[in-house]
Amino acid sequence: MATCSAPGKIYLFGEHAVVYGEPAIACAIELRTRVSAKKSDTIAITSSIGTTGLDFEVHPYVSSAIEKLGSENVSINISSELPVGSGLGSSAAVTIATLAAINIEFGLGNDLSDLAGMGHEIEKEVQGAASPTDTFVSAFGGAVEIPSRKRLDLPDCGVVIGNTNKGASPKKTAKLVKQVARLKEEYPDMINPIIKTIGSFSRKGEVLISKKDYSSLGRLMNVNHGLLDALGVGTLELSALVYAARDAGAYGAKITGAGGGGCMVALTDSPFEVASAIEKSGGEAIITKFTSRGVMSE
Ligand code: MEV
Repeated sequence: MATCSAPGKIYLFGEHAVVYGEPAIACAIELRTRVSAKKSDTIAITSSIGTTGLDFEVHPYVSSAIEKLGSENVSINISSELPVGSGLGSSAAVTIATLAAINIEFGLGNDLSDLAGMGHEIEKEVQGAASPTDTFVSAFGGAVEIPSRKRLDLPDCGVVIGNTNKGASPKKTAKLVKQVARLKEEYPDMINPIIKTIGSFSRKGEVLISKKDYSSLGRLMNVNHGLLDALGVGTLELSALVYAARDAGAYGAKITGAGGGGCMVALTDSPFEVASAIEKSGGEAIITKFTSRGVMSE
């Protein structure tokens, strides 16, 4: 039997602007999805939802991964620390961990780049559209500038996620991306500078990360949050968690991912205070850390 785990991710800067070619910074977080693969005489996929065979409705990412690697008879077991459909890259993590575990169990010899590429193809097939960010960060780990894929230093401060538990999903992401596109078409003179400014946070962020200047990094995350709000992807619940985290002393806090629900992220060296403030404001808090570990065999 082979067991592999792969991490989820957050955006420090740049979601939505990255759709228009601006840089973004994504970081892997130490919340992982574990997948074991064992040669078997039939295909069986077991997760918290239940056990199925190759089933593209119930287990679309895992079924596609099995198919992509030649539909071997395999028994798959999945467990995850990542909340599903929350914008933290849970579908990329399960896809990459499944590909990696099958790759080892059947000695298929694919390297990490092959797995990241296949993972991206699977996300596109299942979702209709997907950026390569989630599968790339889940495969390689660390802090990465997108689209250049430049590896950055890993921030060594604490990170707390606040989940609104309000629907983030690939469908919602597509809707919000279209909504921003419409706003941009209607008011290009006003919206294009906002998109450019968001891109500039990523350029500055790279320097601030290398200096470990987390208080400046946090201040820019706060401004990035304001501009995501200006683009219309914020919600009352997300902002409540963002403000609660800042009031509790976080360096900075912002939406992570497409918005419209899902999660926010706070940088902090007082994770317990920040987590407690997020919980008091109605969110589910998860204390985690950034990780350089991408997909790995366990
Ligand atoms: C969603 O996680 C991030 C967006 O920038 C969309 C994308 O990059 O595919 C909103």
